[in-house]
Amino acid sequence: MAKLHLITYGCQMNEYDSERVAGLLRERDYELTADEGDADVILLNTCAIREKAEDKVFSKLGELRALKRDKPSLLIGVMGCMAQLRKGAIQQRAPIVDLVFGSPAIARVGELVERARREGRPVLDVGEAPLVKVTSRPGRPGPKAFVTVMEGCDKHCTFCVVPRTRGRERSHPPEAIVAEIEGLVAEGCREVTLLGQTVNAYGRDLTPPTDLAELFARVNDVEGLARIRFTTSNPYNLTPALIRAIREVEKVCEWFHLPLQSGSDRVLARMNRGYTRARYLELVDALREAEPALAFSTDIIVGFPGETEGDLEATLETIERVSYDNVFVFRYSPRPGTPAAAMPEQIPDEVKARRNARVLDVVQRVTAARSRLLAGRTMEVLVDGTSRKNPGELSGRTRCNRVVNFDGAGRTTVGDIVPVQVTEVLPHSLRGALATPEEAVCWSK
Ligand code: 5AD
Repeated sequence: MAKLHLITYGCQMNEYDSERVAGLLRERDYELTADEGDADVILLNTCAIREKAEDKVFSKLGELRALKRDKPSLLIGVMGCMAQLRKGAIQQRAPIVDLVFGSPAIARVGELVERARREGRPVLDVGEAPLVKVTSRPGRPGPKAFVTVMEGCDKHCTFCVVPRTRGRERSHPPEAIVAEIEGLVAEGCREVTLLGQTVNAYGRDLTPPTDLAELFARVNDVEGLARIRFTTSNPYNLTPALIRAIREVEKVCEWFHLPLQSGSDRVLARMNRGYTRARYLELVDALREAEPALAFSTDIIVGFPGETEGDLEATLETIERVSYDNVFVFRYSPRPGTPAAAMPEQIPDEVKARRNARVLDVVQRVTAARSRLLAGRTMEVLVDGTSRKNPGELSGRTRCNRVVNFDGAGRTTVGDIVPVQVTEVLPHSLRGALATPEEAVCWSK
């Protein structure tokens, strides 16, 4: 068997795509290797969301030069968002690359790899292609799996490169999604995360049109599945039907990732986000009223062009007001071809760094306060592995997406859903103890 080494950068959609690629190549007798020195084919699945993501790939390609020199038959491929956006730069800066293909070409990866090996000159496939649902996997799924339900984005956020890398919004038909999930569950999966760049815009492009709330209902009917998550949502498309579904559909977990980006209306307008701070807060209130146990997480960009100290204050206040369980903070990174990259008043790196630190300070305080609310509670945990720090302990997540480590070896195992009482609140995780089912609150709705 030939050996494939896959390196995945970026988002969950990329993780999902990498699995499809590993599955498709497995059908052609490639097995995965963790050792790049041992590989016949190395594929880099790339991200273009910020410049730093691109830098990592170019530096990795630099490192791989020596490997290729020692083993000229080694095939090196670049796939994913950077392939789509930066094909010219890749070929110019990294002539060792034999194959460049975008996400629409994933279904053809087997032919592409074979063609590149046969022809001995670079193969490029970055065109548009109809969306196909590829469901191959390299092996059995774990207790949790991602399932892409739609690709692309029709928003025009001025900072974002995704519409140029993943194309327009295209949804997979609900039947194909349900069939994929049934297959996963039959092999032991208990939780799925439905993925899309704007997942709550799901189904608008289908005939007949449908929506995420209807998809929840269909996925909820899959017997043996225990949990449904979904990401990422855009506040702009958040409908009353979706809010109702979050309350009513049993398997949908009490966790909502809702990117705010900024708490300042001036910045939100320049970002072209399509909502104001007041509208965002109205949605959060409506969601909390529908489902009081809901935990929110969000993305924040600091240092967007023209952002003032006053704008930053508005962001900090909004973070406190929403009281998030988790916040991802990013420094604005100008992306090629996006309107914000050409805006005046770009913010210097030192200022971005300072603002980043200020946001993280507030985030730490807010999330710690949320964590303290969980002390002593008994919650439903899906066991998904062992603790990162202590392999003798099991680890899992609550429905509200918190990591809980606990001593349960011999009494429970990966894939089980068990009640765990929170005994200690740590900065990035919770510690707990196995409890009896009768003690579980937030067990289901
Ligand atoms: N610079 C910094 N952060 C960005 N994001 C998207 N584009 C950029 C950019 N140009 C962030 C947003 C988005 C998350 C996935 O990445 O916060 O929600």
